[in-house]
Amino acid sequence: MRQVMVAGNWKMNGSSDSVKELISGIKDGMASVTKAAVVVCPPAVYIACVSGAADGSAIKVGGQNICDEDGGAFTGEISADMLKDTGCEYAIVGHSERRALYGETDALVAKRFAAARRNGIIPIFCIGETLEERESGVTNDVCARQIDAVIDLEGVAALADSVIAYEPVWAIGTGKVATPEQAQEVHAFIRGKIAALDAGVAEGLQILYGGSMNPGNAKELIGQPDIDGGLIGGASLKAEDFLAICQAAE
Ligand code: 13P
Repeated sequence: MRQVMVAGNWKMNGSSDSVKELISGIKDGMASVTKAAVVVCPPAVYIACVSGAADGSAIKVGGQNICDEDGGAFTGEISADMLKDTGCEYAIVGHSERRALYGETDALVAKRFAAARRNGIIPIFCIGETLEERESGVTNDVCARQIDAVIDLEGVAALADSVIAYEPVWAIGTGKVATPEQAQEVHAFIRGKIAALDAGVAEGLQILYGGSMNPGNAKELIGQPDIDGGLIGGASLKAEDFLAICQAAE
């Protein structure tokens, strides 16, 4: 049985005060979360503060990105060692906002994925199609291409210690959630694609859904056979909503 995971991507939101309030609210509610693995990904400058506050709880912390290089003259980047040093066990890799707004290519995303793995950080590897791609019927091709970039560089076995997040771009921050059937269909495609290379890796792989998941739709989405949890944006910024999604996995 795969463990359900609920991860919060706080994106570029918060302040010193608000992140403390948010993490303490989540921590206070963790007694009611017994099944889901819970991860929060704060903005980089607040990671240390959030890790400290989460200490002593089951909450894990992740970065929102990770440099493909291990150190040196890479202005503005954050290395795997820095993430680990400040308490991270996870890093989001290849989020569609990074791909669309900051020019991250499949090849660069694969290198960031590799940097995470070689340094003992678990990548939460994001893939997903735009609305235009969905409407032209190439959803599976896009997901396959994004996954292949990682498999070509690292091999399919690398996915065994990783998490995939399927995030249809048209569902992110739009309130337009994929139906459970739409999401399940792509999740099953992803698992099937990986199973064709390694059935064991595919069976154990956690595949999260992301895109307008909220307390009202989480249970049905997470109830699908190939959906192993969620990567939550907007609804992860309120402790009550985030906890309600974690509880949907109970
Ligand atoms: P929303 O939950 O705000 O749609 O964002 C999803 C997301 O991008 C998580 O990485």
